[in-house]
Amino acid sequence: MEDISGKKKPLGINTRLTHGGNDPRDYHGFINPPVVRASTVLFPDAQTMATRNQKYTYGTRGTPTSDALCQAIDALEGSAGTILVPSGLAAVTVPLLAFLSAGDHALFVDTIYNPTRHFADTMLTRLGITVEYYDPAIGAGISALIRPNTRVIFTESPASNTFEMQDIPAIAAKAREAGAIVMMDNTWATPVYFRPLDHGVDISIHAATKYPSGHSDILLGTVSANERCWPALKEANGTLGICVSPDDTYQILRGLRTMGVRLEAHQKRALEIARWLETQPGVASVLHPALESHPGHAIWKRDFTGASGIFSIVLEGGAKKKAHAFLDALELFGLGYSWGGYESLALQVSLADRTVSKTDYPGPIIRLQIGLEDTADLIADLQNGLAAAAAAE
Ligand SMILES: Cc1ncc(COP(=O)(O)O)c(C=O)c1O
Repeated sequence: MEDISGKKKPLGINTRLTHGGNDPRDYHGFINPPVVRASTVLFPDAQTMATRNQKYTYGTRGTPTSDALCQAIDALEGSAGTILVPSGLAAVTVPLLAFLSAGDHALFVDTIYNPTRHFADTMLTRLGITVEYYDPAIGAGISALIRPNTRVIFTESPASNTFEMQDIPAIAAKAREAGAIVMMDNTWATPVYFRPLDHGVDISIHAATKYPSGHSDILLGTVSANERCWPALKEANGTLGICVSPDDTYQILRGLRTMGVRLEAHQKRALEIARWLETQPGVASVLHPALESHPGHAIWKRDFTGASGIFSIVLEGGAKKKAHAFLDALELFGLGYSWGGYESLALQVSLADRTVSKTDYPGPIIRLQIGLEDTADLIADLQNGLAAAAAAE
């Protein structure tokens, strides 16, 4: 689109979310793409079949529905290509399988999503890959851990549950010098608030189960690669035979259309509640990178353009009994895993798996996913939780 001076203006994020992916003119003008259910695709003649010389060849290799979502994600991520996988966890495991071989060394941030750690400690280790964990605050210091056989550096920022920020550009620069591939689980920020590939990351991973879905009813993962890594990622995905149902694919594209406005609402509510919690007796600290009090705030401000709706609080003193009293007193916050949906959730965090990042917290940690309810109602619910926690001492 050109402005009055004839210059091309970059489109805003909500415009891109609204119009990305399919072109309505490709399918009779219907705004949304068709939900194509497919295994077999027919070829017009034997020669075309022998050379596979047509756009679609088989259901596992892409359909107009999957193309629509992949193109929309590529536009958001700035990637050369995107694969769709059946869950966010698969979006972690598939690229690791694509790039790691027996004898390789892989570095994982110690504050990683626990099932990622489980995959590294079990399957990757069994396949002959050496797994090592590093402190989320390591930054350029990662170079001290890089070995001649380091193939992958896996990042997640902010961290799962405790929300430490990583210096992604510094890590990516050192990885690039050493020829290692950087992967990032960017589920918290979504490409709306942080574009990993613009900061030197090679592979951007997203549990689309969270904000793109937005309604706690779909499991799906996306993996987006830069030019350097796209051929190997695509090849590995085809080799593994992984693909996603057309209905789920369609629903995630549908979710993207409103994701920008939903994220704004999650961000606003979460920040309001986080600031309120900072003032409450019984709360030792609030772990939210957009708060000035957060140790990673400067990195968040430098690299990210927004914050989503999940953060944690550290209760003052006490242990499980206090945490359970807090959780059991909540009525609007459900007790459940996952996040990114329209409804608020809470859980007690376990840090038992960590081996490097041994921060000493003064009390139990509660993770809060702030949904789209009215802030005043959520605050009243949390007030009850804090009162119950205080009474449980
Ligand atoms: C940071 C992060 N990555 C990946 C996942 C996995 O997503 P899914 O639940 O779709 O497997 C989650 C799920 O909670 C997550 O929190």
